[in-house]
Amino acid sequence: MVPFTDTPSWHALLAYRDARAATTLEGLWKEDPARGDALTFQCAGIAVDFSKQRIDPHAVRLLTELARERDVPACIATLFAGEKVNITEGRPALHMALRGDERVSVDGQDIYPEVQRNRERMRVFAEAVREGQWRGATGEKFTHVLALGIGGSSLGPKLVIEALRGEADGPQVRFVQSIDPAEFDDAIRGLDPRTTLVVVASKTFTTQETMVNAQAARAWLTGPLGEGAIAKHFVAASANIAAAGDFGLPECNVFPFAEWVGGRYSLWSSVGLPIAIAIGATRFGQLLAGAHAVDMQFRSDPLERNVPALLGLVGIWNRNVLAMPSHAVLSYASRLENLPMYLQQLEMESNGKRVDREGRLMGAPTCPVVWGGVETPAQHAFHQWLHQGTDLASCDFIVVAKPMGERGIHHEILLSHACAQSEALMSGVDPGDPHRVCPGNRVSTTIVLPRLDAYHLGALLAMYEHKVFVQACVWGINAFDQFGVELGKTIASRVLPAVQGANVPLHPATSHLLGVIRRLSGTH
Ligand code: F6P
Repeated sequence: MVPFTDTPSWHALLAYRDARAATTLEGLWKEDPARGDALTFQCAGIAVDFSKQRIDPHAVRLLTELARERDVPACIATLFAGEKVNITEGRPALHMALRGDERVSVDGQDIYPEVQRNRERMRVFAEAVREGQWRGATGEKFTHVLALGIGGSSLGPKLVIEALRGEADGPQVRFVQSIDPAEFDDAIRGLDPRTTLVVVASKTFTTQETMVNAQAARAWLTGPLGEGAIAKHFVAASANIAAAGDFGLPECNVFPFAEWVGGRYSLWSSVGLPIAIAIGATRFGQLLAGAHAVDMQFRSDPLERNVPALLGLVGIWNRNVLAMPSHAVLSYASRLENLPMYLQQLEMESNGKRVDREGRLMGAPTCPVVWGGVETPAQHAFHQWLHQGTDLASCDFIVVAKPMGERGIHHEILLSHACAQSEALMSGVDPGDPHRVCPGNRVSTTIVLPRLDAYHLGALLAMYEHKVFVQACVWGINAFDQFGVELGKTIASRVLPAVQGANVPLHPATSHLLGVIRRLSGTH
């Protein structure tokens, strides 16, 4: 496949950008005061308003032409058909199969029975923990879950549980992701091993941080309760049942998921067990249903009103046509505090790639830096940069229409700020004094959820997953591998013996840095 920058539709987009270069966002609104309706689309009950993007219906047409030229509709069909879209690892990417009931085959085998079996086991176990039918070794009901995992084995469950905190009526979940011992200590503070269930989530069951934390949790539990407690207090979500067995977990304590579930796409699998325990299997089912509704629309809607595809294409417009290096996710819901970090992994680990599917160096940028923050605290931190900084960022505002708390006035103020920020970025102001000028013409998309509930949260996350896929198709890259994270892991395994005092050969820069650290730690 030729690079996307060699296609006629790409050149048509550049020509259109140049022809419209002098037209600001304000100008676009003057030209067409009805652009709000023309550029707002619905998907699974969520409204996505692109009217503050520097696009018009003609630009949308050109973007969909680019998508067609890049075979996006065929790529979508290939994805859902279970073909091995992850070409470097020879795997399909079938996270959608976890949330629907369509029949798909992998290597000639219908995967639906296995999906259904795993889903049912997870449902029964989550409810048993919540109802107190599955109890700890001393017969007590679980009050807490210690959820161990990192990256995709943690970010999704953490995001969902915190977002749906208002509906979390099961045992309280505490997460340990990092290897910093302080995080483990903070997580277990105040916990009683007798009433704590440990869930180890790791696709590979080899990830260093998770395995070291799992050993620490094991020692913390078996110290007071004995080795026999493992069977009652320890469960795992993994694609590597053998490794979980080597850790000492009986097979019935392992909730498996398939290799075709990518880590950052795994919250819908048994990795979501802490979610099901916290909010109940019914609400977990609603999360899946919301995501499934988006899958169905993504699969069948024409590109012109296919919301996940449009999110991806508008991203391409901002990143490649308008050359914006970063993308800010601005959650106007305090419970969506973890969304920017979740999307950082989803977008940057998927599409932070420098070669195309054929291994050729990209001649154009791929994934922008994804970052962000939460509503008015972010306004009081970095929005200054958004309004007056020298670099441009595209923004996604995430707004929830219905209040999430008791005090209606808070919600009204929150909504006023969400609307005001995107207007201020778009319109700017020029009071004469250069220090006070906000140039405006800064772009954003606003995504409005009717409510912050399991269904709409599932839908929102699925939308972003498919956005990422569409961008990967246009760029011609593989969104489903992540070899870039391996090098650092390899070097860390060489450096660890040196940190522990062994005399091993090190790069002089690393040796120097270790020396600096040792001096400051007082160990030398
Ligand atoms: O960061 C690399 C990565 O492989 C992620 O893709 C994944 O989500 C994370 O590590 C955790 O991996 P595992 O679930 O195998 O412990």
